[in-house]
Amino acid sequence: MKKTLFLFLFFPVIVFGNAFWGKTGHRVTGEIAENHLSGKAKRAINDLLDGHSLAFVSTFADDIKADRAYSKYSAWHYVNYPLGMSYADSDKSEYGDIITAIETCKSAIKDKNGSRKDRVFHLKMLIHLIGDLHQPMHVSRAEDKGGNTIQVQWFGQGSNLHRVWDKNLIESYGMTYTELAMELQNVSRKKRKEIQLGTVYDWVDESHELCADLYDSVEIGEKLGYRYSYDHNDLLFAQLQKGGLRLAKVLNDIFG
Ligand code: ADE
Ligand code: ZN
Ligand code: ZN
Repeated sequence: MKKTLFLFLFFPVIVFGNAFWGKTGHRVTGEIAENHLSGKAKRAINDLLDGHSLAFVSTFADDIKADRAYSKYSAWHYVNYPLGMSYADSDKSEYGDIITAIETCKSAIKDKNGSRKDRVFHLKMLIHLIGDLHQPMHVSRAEDKGGNTIQVQWFGQGSNLHRVWDKNLIESYGMTYTELAMELQNVSRKKRKEIQLGTVYDWVDESHELCADLYDSVEIGEKLGYRYSYDHNDLLFAQLQKGGLRLAKVLNDIFG
């Protein structure tokens, strides 16, 4: 491949990383949600997904990202607004954001007159987006593209704050998505109900507040490793757990 063509095609990936809650994170939220679906939701989803699991389809929205035909969906994965502000009070992007996207998905899935293809597409997108909503750097600040331009080192390798939270932390833990889901999904009914309280508007502001702390957790160029993991793994696991349980709640509400 010509060097210029290579750079043209892959420049955004080189500069900003892959920009998603890595595959493992999405599969964990999908798997936890799968195990908290109502019977009715399970049957309806099983039909729409042709028997595939939530974990399996959870990465679809990232898998289509490199395809130009889907470029209008790239703004759906995140939202940026000033720290200290609520989503409700913030200026909205003309391209949409993770919250407007989630609402669009919910309406499309519920639309009984919509085509099956359209309902399946939006279901797969929704399963992914509720995961992204719980990656704090996806509910973030515009100036640094959700931490993508904040360079740090991860165990001696070049990385950035966004990528640490998409991939580095979860991958360095070294558990598969099923192992993580098994660990995180055994929650008391009381705790599950607490986590599932609220709406996506509450959840987006919660992620945004966590994101503000994460900006304070690193210095530009800092060498991160074990200490950062020790300090942040509990938050990582809590976010994965919330993502899974809330995805189940959203799907149970849609499918009755
Ligand atoms: N691009 C710009 N801001 C972003 C964010 N918060 N998350 C992912 N990609 C982004
Ligand atoms: Zn994403
Ligand atoms: Zn990301």
